[in-house]
Amino acid sequence: MRRKLVVGNWKMHGSRTQVRQLIEGVAAGSVDLKKVEIAVAPTLLHIALAAELCASEDAGHLKLAAQNLVAEPAGAFTGEVSAPMLAEYGVNYVIVGHCERRGIFAETDQVVAAKFKATQASGLIPILCIGESLAQREAGTSAEVVLEQLNAVTDAVGIESLQSAVLAYEPIWAIGTGKTASKEQAQEIHRVLREHIAKSNTAVAQSIRILYGGSVNAANATELFSQVDIDGGLVGGASLKVEEFVSICKSAD
Ligand code: PGA
Repeated sequence: MRRKLVVGNWKMHGSRTQVRQLIEGVAAGSVDLKKVEIAVAPTLLHIALAAELCASEDAGHLKLAAQNLVAEPAGAFTGEVSAPMLAEYGVNYVIVGHCERRGIFAETDQVVAAKFKATQASGLIPILCIGESLAQREAGTSAEVVLEQLNAVTDAVGIESLQSAVLAYEPIWAIGTGKTASKEQAQEIHRVLREHIAKSNTAVAQSIRILYGGSVNAANATELFSQVDIDGGLVGGASLKVEEFVSICKSAD
């Protein structure tokens, strides 16, 4: 049985006050949830504060995720943060390959694979994001595109590396647009991904959690999370509102 996971990706939002309010609010609202695993991903600048807050007794059930890292452990990489640094702060998960990183910051599949590898090398769990554009969906190539993105990573690190990783299917056209993939559209891609992994390793295919991301909100979370191959969500905009995010977490519990 795969434990559902809901991750709040705060992107470049939040002040110290908001980080405190969000973590305290989400922690209080989710304290009685028994099954779902919950993680928050603040900006890198707020990781230290978030780590401190998540270490408190009241928020101890929340996990911490980083939104990005650089693949090298240390060196002359002005402006970057590495996996060992994140590990020192008690980070559990790192989002890699988010379409905003691929699109705005020109991260290639090779860069994503290197980040995935570096994350695991420090004992952290990568959340590998893959997803097609609207043009690719309209051309009927969604499955092909996500499998190519997945293969780029597994070719570099081996399919077994998915044993300690999370996948997130995030159709680009659904991110921040209010257009969610229907439960059928999402389930179909999740099924394709799991079946593809099963061809190489059935145990990994059964155990890997595949999250859906793209305009998840309190109104659509239940039907998305009830699909057999959807194991939770990567939530952007709706994770910045305590009540809504807690409600999404409840849908996964
Ligand atoms: P959204 O973002 O929920 O605001 O669409 C999801 C994501 O980018 O992970």
